[in-house]
Amino acid sequence: MEIKRVMVVGAGQMGAGIAQVCAQSGLKVQLNDNNAVALERGMQTIQKLLDRSVLKKRITEQEKLETLQRLSVSETLQDASKANLIIEAVIENMEVKTNIFRQLDVIAPADAILASNTSSLPITEIAAVTDRPEQVIGMHFMNPVPVMKLVEIIRGLQTSDQTYQIIEDMAKKLSKTPIAVNDFPGFVSNRILMPMINEAIYTLYEGIASVEDIDTSMKLGMNHPMGPLTLADFIGLDTCLYIMEVLHEGFADSKYRPCPLLRQYVKAGWLGKKSGKGFYVYN
Ligand code: CAA
Repeated sequence: MEIKRVMVVGAGQMGAGIAQVCAQSGLKVQLNDNNAVALERGMQTIQKLLDRSVLKKRITEQEKLETLQRLSVSETLQDASKANLIIEAVIENMEVKTNIFRQLDVIAPADAILASNTSSLPITEIAAVTDRPEQVIGMHFMNPVPVMKLVEIIRGLQTSDQTYQIIEDMAKKLSKTPIAVNDFPGFVSNRILMPMINEAIYTLYEGIASVEDIDTSMKLGMNHPMGPLTLADFIGLDTCLYIMEVLHEGFADSKYRPCPLLRQYVKAGWLGKKSGKGFYVYN
């Protein structure tokens, strides 16, 4: 099966980015959200990024218009009846995700693939609420989606080889580099990234260095594009804490215990860039 029509469920930063890259690579895409305001905001973000790409001469005005023509909006999951791939990118909450997958399983064509952009929830558990677990898979994009090349493709316990192959081919069509990952907590990227960020927060908590110096250490010492504390603010401190908890609980290993300072910041509502304050202050 060749993927031609995609629905992206969830018009937040990740969903809008996924819809954009799919439309730019020639696929018909519906961006779905039950919140009209979020949908409008998602479409505006795509429009702005495409305008910038025209300005930077990465694409032509004609290519931008063609991309926008391939994109449509949808406020009901019923529209999934026309898609052969549905990529879910809603909040990291198992109940919300399984509720969507249950509905999609009924609405989507029998041969459609259901993918989740989850950064840490088990694909096997999401797949188990459907009658097509062999057609359920993880497709974890990185933020910002239009810029980052990696897609983790996560095989649930029951994901078929055929589903894996279709999604791997599709990720390549999006000009992304796929990696094959088995379904264990944090997959690969967050299993490695989050303990590093957590350790950077411990370094601050223990008074070993300042926020700026910790970031400088990794930027100039290891050539990371962002220091770990800047990156934590960029990802969202609530998300970082959530993923650390998934690792801690999933492996029952104290090496993944979240730093108390991270917990305290999240309790204070200091969530990073999106809330205006985290390790840095944002205007
Ligand atoms: N959406 C689309 N494009 C964006 C963007 C966004 N949100 N932010 C930046 N860009 C583009 C810019 O438009 C710019 O391109 P042009 O100037 O050619 O148009 C290019 O990226 C570089 O941006 P900047 O010059 O503004 O800044 P920069 O050089 O510092 O790059 C960055 C920004 C790409 C975000 C870079 O800092 C970076 O790679 N940071 C690390 C990002 C990272 O690690 N992401 C993974 C997060 S973890 C995750 O996603 C998984 C998870 O589950 C938590």
